Amino acid sequence: MESCDMKSWRQLDRVDARCERPMSKPLPRPNVLAIDPYVPGKSAAPGAARVIKLSANETPLGPSPRAVQALRDLAPSVAAYPDGSSIALREAIGARWGLDPARIICGAGSDNILELLALAYVGPGLEGVYTQYGFLEYRIVILAAGGTPIVAPETNFTASVDAILSKVTARTKIVFLANPNNPTGTFLPAGEVARLARGLPAHVLLVIDAAYAEYVRRDDYEAGALLANAHENVVMTRTFSKIYGLAGLRLGWGYGPAHVIDALNRIRSPFNVSSAASVAGIAALKDRAHIEAAVAHNEKWLPWLAREITALGLEVLPSVANFIAIRFPDAPGRTAADADRFLTSRGLVLRAIGAYGMGEFLRLTVGSQEANELVVAALSDFMAKAPAHG
Ligand SMILES: Cc1ncc(COP(=O)(O)O)c(C=O)c1O
Repeated sequence: MESCDMKSWRQLDRVDARCERPMSKPLPRPNVLAIDPYVPGKSAAPGAARVIKLSANETPLGPSPRAVQALRDLAPSVAAYPDGSSIALREAIGARWGLDPARIICGAGSDNILELLALAYVGPGLEGVYTQYGFLEYRIVILAAGGTPIVAPETNFTASVDAILSKVTARTKIVFLANPNNPTGTFLPAGEVARLARGLPAHVLLVIDAAYAEYVRRDDYEAGALLANAHENVVMTRTFSKIYGLAGLRLGWGYGPAHVIDALNRIRSPFNVSSAASVAGIAALKDRAHIEAAVAHNEKWLPWLAREITALGLEVLPSVANFIAIRFPDAPGRTAADADRFLTSRGLVLRAIGAYGMGEFLRLTVGSQEANELVVAALSDFMAKAPAHG
């Protein structure tokens, strides 16, 4: 009998019943088709005169004017390839955070670093662990690398060290922990993350994704650099997309043991950071006043939003980041989907997070003063509305 691979060309446009696969096109690995593509927060509100996007945790302060100037200055030179090793950027990051530039890797957003980590360490027959409401990109990169995603349950919408450790087996290669986590906004204190690092076997890489670190104002928080210094199996990832206001340029970085950074450098694409991202990132790092203003803005408006929204009779999760998850009642006319429609009709675009198993929540990014006040006014009107019967 003819083997699947020896079918004649004429037969290739038919489904091969014996191989149970259509032969007329190349097929991706089965893991790839098991991935639900990441759906970003919407940015449109059809019919609304003005749209205020509060669905992607972007900063309401915009990028640093210094970063904007750096982009303008760069424009005439973009015919040249960037420096493939991002030396100037790694040195600027190292100087800012007191880290060894040789142990830093930069990428097209921290998504790129997460992807490289999964690709380097996970594969068929191997597992990656992340938490129940953890950032969904982890699942995607584990599957894309051919591995098996394993979910550790959370307690009160917060990662549980014991639950994570209980999911670790000889097949586990990587644990992803977002700290603080998106979309919940909750975090693990430094002592707990240290306990996790100590509890993991040496063959498991712990990735601490600290995309929102700059916003956290808690004495018991540590972004992950100290643990990455102390352990041979801990990496921290960071981003310029959030407080630095450079999401559109795609710039993130990772810091870890030299052997991990070496592995990632072997598989990254040679120019994974554009010259635009690089010069803007360096300029943004130097503009400390801009970042302090963003922190101060968040420190004022995050608790204000939590207070005002709670006063409307809605529950909010305790967030240390620049967004809040709001829980809506399971009552006709009052659900998260109803609220989403109501807010969108006023041009206020929040993030539905049903994909995280949090269908009764909407995630709200802290916006400008005007945006925050408009959201609270709209939610107040929404809650005052007589609930629909049915
Ligand atoms: C927890 C977390 N990690 C990583 C990212 C990816 O950020 P970027 O690829 O823009 O650096 C995000 C973006 O929303 C995030 O929320």
